[in-house]
Amino acid sequence: MLEKIKQTAAFITSKISEKPQLGIILGTGLGGLVNEIEIKHSLSYEEIPNFPVSTVEGHKGRLIFGVLGGKNVVAMQGRFHFYEGYNMQEVTFPVRVMKYIGVERMIVSNASGGVNPDFEVGDLMIINDQINLMPTNPLIGKNYPELGPRFPDMSETYDKPMIEMAIKIAKENNIKYQLGAYAAVTGPCFETPAEYRYMRVIGADAVGMSTVPEIIVARHMGLPCFAISIITDLGVTGKIVEVTHKDVIDVASIAEPKMTLIIKELIAAL
Ligand code: HPA
Repeated sequence: MLEKIKQTAAFITSKISEKPQLGIILGTGLGGLVNEIEIKHSLSYEEIPNFPVSTVEGHKGRLIFGVLGGKNVVAMQGRFHFYEGYNMQEVTFPVRVMKYIGVERMIVSNASGGVNPDFEVGDLMIINDQINLMPTNPLIGKNYPELGPRFPDMSETYDKPMIEMAIKIAKENNIKYQLGAYAAVTGPCFETPAEYRYMRVIGADAVGMSTVPEIIVARHMGLPCFAISIITDLGVTGKIVEVTHKDVIDVASIAEPKMTLIIKELIAAL
């Protein structure tokens, strides 16, 4: 794995002129942040050695290099989901590579179902903790001390200073925000009403099918992480309605400008 990471990082480094400081992963229906990036280079996943190829609707599958909020960034437009059939090493491979091309922090977005009864469709939730409900963990297997410790600490998975900054930005711009814990399941089914109830009981505020593996790997390598979720549907008793992938994309697209503003200003403030 180390060799592959280094090989891919060397390939990418040979194609770009500026080392990115920040790594961004854009979730379902949230690729629009890319329009805010002053793009310098773009590599489609197919042309990057060792990269998996994204298949899901709403995911373009490009690595974008450019300037956002005055910082050099690399953004994944489209991520790899466990439900697509990739293993955890594949899902998290791009995060490993980002670290090796110079990224110092991660910013991640996603769409999720809200299970906190105070939430509304279209809300933004700044993620302040996570629950891994996927049946495995990307760190299972041989540990490479060069990447990180065998038993990484997860007591402050999401970077408190970045959360504070994002809250300040949201308040200054009159953007309603929620704070909460994100639980990750494999999908691809959405949850049953009993499963949504279960999520709430165990301490989640929202549930989705991504982010947790990438964050575990980023934390393993010591990268401070920030993540934000768009609540695209509600898994709250009495408010549960049928949900489709299109609904998720549509709601995410509507709420996206607020999220984009927060991320852009957060990056500028770092
Ligand atoms: N459950 C899981 N993943 C999701 C949901 C949901 O309700 N909404 C968007 N992604």
